[in-house]
Amino acid sequence: MLVTVASAKGSPGVTTTARVLASLWPSDVVLVDADPAGGDLALWMRAPDGSPLDPEHGLLTLAVEARRTPNAAVATHAQPTDGGLPVVCGLQAPEQVAGMGPVWPAIGHVLSSAPGAVVADVGRLGPDSAALPLVEASDVLLLVVRPAVESYSHLRERLRWLARHNPGPRGMPAVGIVVVADPRDSRAVRDLQQLLAHGAFTAPVLGAVALDPKAADVVAGRVERGIERSLLVRSVRQLVEPVYDLASTRHFAHVTRA
Ligand SMILES: Nc1ncnc2c1ncn2[C@@H]1O[C@H](COP(=O)(O)OP(=O)(O)OP(=O)(O)O)[C@@H](O)[C@H]1O
Ligand SMILES: [Mg+2]
Repeated sequence: MLVTVASAKGSPGVTTTARVLASLWPSDVVLVDADPAGGDLALWMRAPDGSPLDPEHGLLTLAVEARRTPNAAVATHAQPTDGGLPVVCGLQAPEQVAGMGPVWPAIGHVLSSAPGAVVADVGRLGPDSAALPLVEASDVLLLVVRPAVESYSHLRERLRWLARHNPGPRGMPAVGIVVVADPRDSRAVRDLQQLLAHGAFTAPVLGAVALDPKAADVVAGRVERGIERSLLVRSVRQLVEPVYDLASTRHFAHVTRA
């Protein structure tokens, strides 16, 4: 099962949400940093002994293997981290995207057929996004948005484009939306739901990721402390089941067809 996490525009908290979601996933999971603009996870996370991760070992080595064989093993390119979550480190510089060339569809195939689940951060999503083949191969695309008029406007444009985009017989993944919002603002989810319903968009708003700067600092490795009980972790825990259910609709349809 492949879950891709992306934004329509801006930096609403894709990497933060993807990392927390993967750490709470109920079965075996690998977190993949596939943001073509350059990865953050290699800088945010640490090996179990506290040492830095090897930024050279990850998406680039996976690309080399995926180019040779459709049976590449994602796990071989993942590194263990201190919370136990295996991570495939991302690209260090945007120039490396050019070197990846036509291998993205092969990576999409490898990630979507991996045993267990894969949560992949694909960064900003648009028609020219190099990581689009990963989205096309995924079971669910999770779009992260902040509650602001301009964010909603970009989200609507992206949903319009996704509805028209048809990559082939498998079609596009199920799309779900999450709003990074102040936990005291109970209207954020409802307002966005209503806005999308007016425009006849069918993508469900799955819920809110709590705006929680202190916990987000921990996720980004800027501060060390436990965040088990933080609003951020508690809010993302509520999203695991809806994301899983949404992903299952396409995952099992695909499995049945195969
Ligand atoms: N739930 C949250 N609550 C508070 N701050 C957050 C939250 N999620 C992310 N942030 C903060 O917002 C900033 C951007 O977050 P993040 O890097 O996750 O976003 P992104 O969409 O992946 O951005 P980029 O375009 O750089 O890849 C960071 O400073 C991060 O700590
Ligand atoms: Mg990011």
